Amino acid sequence: MKIPLDKVVYSTPPSAVVLVSTISKEGRKNIAPFGFFMPCAHQPPMVAVSIRKTIHTYKYAKEIGEFVVSIPTSKIVKQVYKAGGVNEGDEFKGSGLTAIPSNSVKPFSVKECQVNLECRFVDEITTGDHVIIIGKVIDGIIDDTIFNEDNAILRTNLDSIYHATKNNFVSKGKKIE
Ligand SMILES: Cc1cc2nc3c(=O)[nH]c(=O)nc-3n(C[C@H](O)[C@H](O)[C@H](O)COP(=O)(O)O)c2cc1C
Repeated sequence: MKIPLDKVVYSTPPSAVVLVSTISKEGRKNIAPFGFFMPCAHQPPMVAVSIRKTIHTYKYAKEIGEFVVSIPTSKIVKQVYKAGGVNEGDEFKGSGLTAIPSNSVKPFSVKECQVNLECRFVDEITTGDHVIIIGKVIDGIIDDTIFNEDNAILRTNLDSIYHATKNNFVSKGKKIE
Protein backbone atom coordinates (compact mmCIF):
# COMPACT_ATOMS: atom_id res chain seq x y z
CA MET A 1 0.00 0.00 0.00
CA LYS A 2 1.19 3.50 -0.81
CA ILE A 3 1.89 5.45 2.39
CA PRO A 4 -0.90 8.05 2.92
CA LEU A 5 1.34 10.91 4.05
CA ASP A 6 -1.55 13.28 4.83
CA LYS A 7 -3.01 10.79 7.37
CA VAL A 8 0.14 8.93 8.39
CA VAL A 9 0.25 10.29 11.97
CA TYR A 10 -2.90 8.26 12.64
CA SER A 11 -0.82 5.10 12.11
CA THR A 12 0.99 5.84 15.38
CA PRO A 13 -0.48 4.70 18.73
CA PRO A 14 -2.66 7.41 20.26
CA SER A 15 -1.44 9.35 23.27
CA ALA A 16 -3.97 10.10 25.99
CA VAL A 17 -6.48 12.81 25.18
CA VAL A 18 -6.12 15.81 27.49
CA LEU A 19 -8.19 18.91 28.03
CA VAL A 20 -6.35 22.22 28.00
CA SER A 21 -7.98 25.03 29.94
CA THR A 22 -7.02 28.64 29.26
CA ILE A 23 -8.51 32.05 30.02
CA SER A 24 -8.61 35.28 28.02
CA LYS A 25 -7.43 38.65 29.34
CA GLU A 26 -11.13 39.53 29.75
CA GLY A 27 -11.76 36.37 31.79
CA ARG A 28 -13.49 34.16 29.19
CA LYS A 29 -13.08 30.50 30.16
CA ASN A 30 -11.77 28.37 27.26
CA ILE A 31 -11.35 24.59 27.12
CA ALA A 32 -10.59 22.13 24.31
CA PRO A 33 -9.45 18.50 23.85
CA PHE A 34 -6.05 17.59 22.42
CA GLY A 35 -4.69 14.25 21.26
CA PHE A 36 -1.09 15.34 20.59
CA PHE A 37 0.05 15.25 24.23
CA MET A 38 3.24 14.15 25.96
CA PRO A 39 4.96 14.44 29.32
CA CYS A 40 8.53 15.62 28.62
CA ALA A 41 10.58 16.07 31.84
CA HIS A 42 10.75 14.95 35.48
CA GLN A 43 12.93 17.78 36.84
CA PRO A 44 11.29 20.20 36.59
CA PRO A 45 8.07 18.41 35.67
CA MET A 46 7.08 19.44 32.15
CA VAL A 47 4.33 18.51 29.70
CA ALA A 48 3.77 19.44 26.05
CA VAL A 49 0.78 19.67 23.74
CA SER A 50 0.92 20.17 19.97
CA ILE A 51 -1.75 22.58 18.76
CA ARG A 52 -2.64 24.73 15.80
CA LYS A 53 -1.49 28.35 16.06
CA THR A 54 -4.87 29.66 14.92
CA ILE A 55 -6.88 28.47 17.94
CA HIS A 56 -7.84 30.30 21.14
CA THR A 57 -5.85 27.89 23.32
CA TYR A 58 -2.59 29.09 21.77
CA LYS A 59 -3.52 32.80 21.90
CA TYR A 60 -4.67 32.71 25.54
CA ALA A 61 -1.93 30.38 26.82
CA LYS A 62 0.66 32.75 25.36
CA GLU A 63 -1.03 35.97 26.48
CA ILE A 64 -1.63 34.85 30.07
CA GLY A 65 1.48 32.64 30.25
CA GLU A 66 -0.44 29.87 31.98
CA PHE A 67 -2.60 26.85 31.10
CA VAL A 68 -4.01 23.76 32.80
CA VAL A 69 -3.64 20.26 31.34
CA SER A 70 -6.39 17.99 32.66
CA ILE A 71 -6.70 14.23 32.20
CA PRO A 72 -10.31 13.25 31.49
CA THR A 73 -11.93 9.90 32.28
CA SER A 74 -14.14 7.56 30.26
CA LYS A 75 -17.18 8.93 32.13
CA ILE A 76 -16.97 12.30 30.38
CA VAL A 77 -16.14 11.47 26.75
CA LYS A 78 -19.27 13.26 25.50
CA GLN A 79 -18.29 16.49 27.28
CA VAL A 80 -14.70 16.11 26.04
CA TYR A 81 -15.86 15.77 22.44
CA LYS A 82 -18.26 18.68 22.84
CA ALA A 83 -15.45 20.90 24.17
CA GLY A 84 -13.80 20.54 20.75
CA GLY A 85 -16.83 22.08 19.04
CA VAL A 86 -17.79 24.89 21.42
CA ASN A 87 -15.88 28.02 20.48
CA GLU A 88 -17.55 30.94 22.24
CA GLY A 89 -18.80 32.06 25.65
CA ASP A 90 -17.95 30.12 28.78
CA GLU A 91 -16.71 26.89 27.16
CA PHE A 92 -16.91 24.91 30.42
CA LYS A 93 -20.65 25.64 30.56
CA GLY A 94 -21.01 25.07 26.81
CA SER A 95 -19.50 21.60 27.02
CA GLY A 96 -21.02 20.52 30.36
CA LEU A 97 -17.81 20.56 32.38
CA THR A 98 -17.43 22.06 35.88
CA ALA A 99 -14.81 24.78 36.35
CA ILE A 100 -13.09 24.87 39.75
CA PRO A 101 -10.45 27.44 40.76
CA SER A 102 -6.87 26.24 40.29
CA ASN A 103 -4.40 26.58 43.17
CA SER A 104 -1.70 28.72 41.52
CA VAL A 105 -2.77 29.76 37.99
CA LYS A 106 -5.60 31.84 36.51
CA PRO A 107 -7.08 29.24 34.11
CA PHE A 108 -9.64 27.00 35.80
CA SER A 109 -9.25 23.29 36.55
CA VAL A 110 -11.86 20.65 35.68
CA LYS A 111 -13.78 19.06 38.56
CA GLU A 112 -14.57 15.87 36.60
CA CYS A 113 -10.89 15.16 35.76
CA GLN A 114 -8.69 12.87 37.88
CA VAL A 115 -5.64 15.05 37.24
CA ASN A 116 -5.26 18.81 36.70
CA LEU A 117 -1.71 20.04 36.01
CA GLU A 118 -1.24 23.78 36.49
CA CYS A 119 1.38 24.93 34.00
CA ARG A 120 3.49 27.98 33.35
CA PHE A 121 4.08 28.47 29.60
CA VAL A 122 7.87 28.08 29.27
CA ASP A 123 8.60 27.46 25.60
CA GLU A 124 7.21 26.68 22.17
CA ILE A 125 8.48 24.87 19.09
CA THR A 126 6.83 25.27 15.70
CA THR A 127 6.26 21.89 14.02
CA GLY A 128 4.75 22.31 10.54
CA ASP A 129 1.13 23.43 10.85
CA HIS A 130 1.23 22.94 14.66
CA VAL A 131 3.17 24.45 17.54
CA ILE A 132 4.24 22.47 20.59
CA ILE A 133 3.53 24.44 23.75
CA ILE A 134 5.66 23.38 26.69
CA GLY A 135 4.44 23.88 30.24
CA LYS A 136 6.29 23.62 33.53
CA VAL A 137 3.97 22.06 36.10
CA ILE A 138 4.00 24.33 39.15
CA ASP A 139 0.96 23.02 41.02
CA GLY A 140 -2.14 20.95 40.46
CA ILE A 141 -5.14 19.09 41.76
CA ILE A 142 -5.01 15.29 41.78
CA ASP A 143 -7.79 12.95 42.83
CA ASP A 144 -7.09 10.66 45.80
CA THR A 145 -8.28 7.70 43.68
CA ILE A 146 -4.98 7.54 41.77
CA PHE A 147 -2.79 7.08 44.86
CA ASN A 148 -2.12 3.70 46.48
CA GLU A 149 -2.01 3.08 50.25
CA ASP A 150 1.66 4.23 50.34
CA ASN A 151 0.71 7.55 48.70
CA ALA A 152 2.42 6.62 45.42
CA ILE A 153 0.76 7.49 42.12
CA LEU A 154 -0.67 4.35 40.52
CA ARG A 155 -1.05 4.82 36.77
CA THR A 156 -3.30 1.75 36.55
CA ASN A 157 -5.90 3.78 38.46
CA LEU A 158 -6.04 6.37 35.67
CA ASP A 159 -9.23 6.02 33.62
CA SER A 160 -7.60 7.89 30.70
CA ILE A 161 -9.07 7.98 27.19
CA TYR A 162 -7.59 7.69 23.70
CA HIS A 163 -9.01 9.10 20.49
CA ALA A 164 -9.86 6.61 17.74
CA THR A 165 -11.74 8.72 15.17
CA LYS A 166 -14.50 11.34 15.07
CA ASN A 167 -16.49 10.87 18.33
CA ASN A 168 -15.06 7.40 19.03
CA PHE A 169 -12.81 7.00 22.05
CA VAL A 170 -11.05 4.00 23.62
CA SER A 171 -10.27 3.37 27.30
CA LYS A 172 -8.23 0.41 28.61
CA GLY A 173 -8.30 -1.03 25.08
CA LYS A 174 -12.10 -0.99 24.78
CA LYS A 175 -14.37 1.27 22.71
CA ILE A 176 -16.43 3.56 24.96
CA GLU A 177 -20.14 3.47 24.08
C1 LIG B 1 -10.43 14.13 20.48
C2 LIG B 1 -9.90 15.40 19.89
C3 LIG B 1 -8.53 15.60 19.81
C4 LIG B 1 -8.00 16.79 19.26
N1 LIG B 1 -6.65 16.96 19.24
C5 LIG B 1 -6.13 18.12 18.76
C6 LIG B 1 -4.71 18.35 18.79
O1 LIG B 1 -3.93 17.50 19.25
N2 LIG B 1 -4.25 19.54 18.32
C7 LIG B 1 -5.10 20.51 17.84
O2 LIG B 1 -4.61 21.56 17.43
N3 LIG B 1 -6.44 20.32 17.82
C8 LIG B 1 -6.97 19.17 18.30
N4 LIG B 1 -8.33 18.99 18.30
C9 LIG B 1 -9.21 20.09 17.84
C10 LIG B 1 -9.43 21.17 18.90
O3 LIG B 1 -9.94 20.61 20.09
C11 LIG B 1 -10.42 22.21 18.33
O4 LIG B 1 -9.83 22.85 17.22
C12 LIG B 1 -10.90 23.23 19.34
O5 LIG B 1 -12.04 23.89 18.81
C13 LIG B 1 -9.87 24.30 19.67
O6 LIG B 1 -10.50 25.17 20.60
P1 LIG B 1 -9.98 26.63 20.98
O7 LIG B 1 -10.12 27.53 19.77
O8 LIG B 1 -10.91 27.02 22.10
O9 LIG B 1 -8.57 26.49 21.42
C14 LIG B 1 -8.89 17.80 18.79
C15 LIG B 1 -10.28 17.59 18.87
C16 LIG B 1 -10.79 16.40 19.40
C17 LIG B 1 -12.27 16.19 19.47
